Amino acid sequence: MAAKTIETKTIWMNGKFVDAAKAMVPFLTPGFHYGIGVFEGIRCYATADGPAVFRLREHVDRLLDSARCLGFREVPWSAADLIAAIEETVVRNGYDECYIRPLMWLDAGGWNLNIDGGNPSLGIAVWPWKDYLGPDALKKGIRANVSSITRHHPNATATKAKISGNYVNSILAKTESVRLGFDEAILLDPNGYVAECTGANLFLVRGGKIVTPPSAPVLEGITRDSILTLASDLGIPVAEKPVSRDQLYIADEVFVCGTAAECIALTEIDFRKIGAGEAGPVTRALQEAYHAAVRGAHARSEAWCHLVEKAAPGRVASFGRRR
Ligand SMILES: Cc1ncc(COP(=O)(O)O)c(C=O)c1O
Repeated sequence: MAAKTIETKTIWMNGKFVDAAKAMVPFLTPGFHYGIGVFEGIRCYATADGPAVFRLREHVDRLLDSARCLGFREVPWSAADLIAAIEETVVRNGYDECYIRPLMWLDAGGWNLNIDGGNPSLGIAVWPWKDYLGPDALKKGIRANVSSITRHHPNATATKAKISGNYVNSILAKTESVRLGFDEAILLDPNGYVAECTGANLFLVRGGKIVTPPSAPVLEGITRDSILTLASDLGIPVAEKPVSRDQLYIADEVFVCGTAAECIALTEIDFRKIGAGEAGPVTRALQEAYHAAVRGAHARSEAWCHLVEKAAPGRVASFGRRR
C-alpha cells in the first residue's frame, strides 16, 4: 500500500518558520525513541468572517496540562505564545480550513528514561485534513467492534494527557479493527466498561437521553464538552455514567466525537445493528449544531471560534473574542 505523506508549506519549529521539506528532527532524539512528547489536534474552519480556530484556548491549555502530566518542569512557552504561534502558522500557510498539530517533544537527554535530563522542543504544522473516518462516514455512519485491547489504566499512564506514547494503545486497537474489516475500535477500560474510541469519545442515546462514560479513564475531549453543551442547549438530558458493552448494543443511537472525527454515527457494533442502522435524530441534531458552531453560525460560536486574521492589520473581528 502506498504510504500517504502530509503536504504542507511551512512549519513553526522552536520559534522559526522552516520549509516543510527541511523541518527535520535528528535520529538521536529521545522523544522519537520513547514517545516522550505531548501534542494537540485542533481544527481551523472557514467562517463568514474568515478562518477561525475552534476552541483554541482550551486546546492550548490542554497541551500545557499534558506537558505537566508528562512531567516537563519548565515549558518555555506561555498560552499566549502558543496561541500567537498557532495563528501565525495558519496565516503563513494560507489555508481557510486546516488541521493544526502542535507537538512538544523531549529533544535531548532523557536516554536514561528520566525526563529531567532534557528540554522540550516545539513544532507546529497545519494541513488540510477532511473526513478523518472516511468520505462516507458523515452520511452513512461507520462500523466498529469492541477491541481486544484495553484502554490504559490511569495509573499506567496519564489518560488526561495527549502523550505521544499513549497512542501506541490506539494504534494496536485501530489496526486490529481495520484488519478485521471494521472502521473503528471501541476500547473498554481496565474494569471492563466502555472507555472511548482510538481518537474520539463515545456517546449513546436511549429513550431520548444521552449517556457518555465518565472522564476518569478517557481523554477529556474538547468536542465531548462541546457536544454536552450543545445537547443541553437543545434540551436533551445528558448523564456521565459507566456504560457496559451490551448497553451499546441496545442503544437507540451511538455516536463518536473528536476534533479530527467531528461527530459520526456508529451504525453497527460487533455485527449488531444499532437502532435503525443509520444516524438517528439526536445524532443528526447534534451534528447540525456542531457544524454550525464550528463555522461561526451558532449562538455558541462567539465564545468558541477564535478568528485568525489574515494579514490585514486593523481588521476588526466581528465575532470570536481575541484572548
Ligand atoms: C483518545 C482520544 N479520545 C478522545 C479524543 C477527542 O478529543 P477532542 O475532542 O479534544 O479532539 C481524542 C482526540 O484527540 C483522542 O485522541
